[in-house]
Amino acid sequence: MLEDNQEMTILAKTLFGLENVLAEELQKIGAKNIQVLNRAVQYTGNKELLYKSNLLLRTAIKILVPLKNFTTKDQHSLYKHIKEINWGDYLDNHSTFVIRSVVHSNYFNHSLFVSQKAKDAIVDQLRDENGNRPSVDTENPDLFIDLHISDDKATVSLDSSGLPLNQRGYRKSAGDAPLNEVLAAGLILLSKWNCQSNFIDPMCGSGTLLIEAAMIASNMAPNLMRKEFAFMRWANFDKKMWLQMINEAKMNQKFPDKKQFKIIGSDLSMGMLDIAQKNISGAGLSNIISLRNKQFSEFLAPAGQGILVFNPPYGERLKVKQIEELYESIGSCLKNNWKNYEAWILSNNYEALKHVGLKPNVKIKLFNGNLECRFLSFPIFEGTRKGFIENKEENKESHIKNEDNQIIED
Ligand SMILES: C[S@@+](CC[C@H](N)C(=O)[O-])C[C@H]1O[C@@H](n2cnc3c(N)ncnc32)[C@H](O)[C@@H]1O
Repeated sequence: MLEDNQEMTILAKTLFGLENVLAEELQKIGAKNIQVLNRAVQYTGNKELLYKSNLLLRTAIKILVPLKNFTTKDQHSLYKHIKEINWGDYLDNHSTFVIRSVVHSNYFNHSLFVSQKAKDAIVDQLRDENGNRPSVDTENPDLFIDLHISDDKATVSLDSSGLPLNQRGYRKSAGDAPLNEVLAAGLILLSKWNCQSNFIDPMCGSGTLLIEAAMIASNMAPNLMRKEFAFMRWANFDKKMWLQMINEAKMNQKFPDKKQFKIIGSDLSMGMLDIAQKNISGAGLSNIISLRNKQFSEFLAPAGQGILVFNPPYGERLKVKQIEELYESIGSCLKNNWKNYEAWILSNNYEALKHVGLKPNVKIKLFNGNLECRFLSFPIFEGTRKGFIENKEENKESHIKNEDNQIIED
């Protein structure tokens, strides 16, 4: 197992389109040798950085420590390579483990089969060595092992997170279609909200965007409320270091000045607002976020400037005409009621998005679960578009620099 100051390669997994945002987060917490990959960022750091990554990164889904990379085209070589890893370093006879496999390969097509083969290799190695075997526990294992196969390239890693990191510990109730917390945080970071102007989600559902925004504004560590991380069961777990890190994270929290800006959510459904309220109090953020029960058409912009970030219904349960009308009314409400705000909308319904009737100045490709979406920015300017764009030029420049592989400019 890892020594305290041993530098290691670490891999933070994320969602498509959030890689650059995650790389920026990693830079801020002191990661070295950062390399942006597809749905992941690789870097180097010590044990402290591994713990920090789990606690502080808003856009990471899991934090892995790769043990071995190899090439494999069949089950026999897969078994052989995994059996060569010294599993006695991580497991004893009484330990339990689980293997989670992700496979995108012409050589292997069932992740379950691959996990089974990997399990056989681990169990056989330890039984050959000491006559006893560890057992598999899919619910509450001592060790989470990650196996990733992309074509003929395989990586076996220790998963230091366990349950995905979007499970922050604040969600009491989900509602209909909650955004993944990591995606919500990513949207806010992509929008470059400055935490000094109003943040509005006018179709807030269960409140995910509001909670993530309030956490960002208060510098609250996203996983401060989470009780379990897989690394806590590793033989080398440094409890003292972890508790110290938690204390520091608590001390770094600050209460945003509510006079300077507001975080407001609204929804037409009272039921959704009840759920949002439960989640907001679960996160301890009731003092920072306020909720309203309004149709978007009745919601007028609070004084000052700000941004709206929201994901309207995509249309699964609505007729085409209804969804087009909804997006059309979103466009006219923005034009009439939200001057000097910037609206960011996530949707996978490209036809409906055209009915907003405004010209987006930034388009970003993202995925909400399996749904390919666009995250569009609509500046709601007073006067000429040219004047507005000139004012925003500086902000836009930084977008283009940072996300140049994802942003589609008009
Ligand atoms: C896809 S959900 C948003 C999910 C939310 N981001 C979350 O994480 O839970 C869309 C929400 O928009 C609300 N909604 C739909 N039409 C609306 C309207 N015209 N005005 C206000 N809210 C509306 C729905 O009640 C629903 O809660």
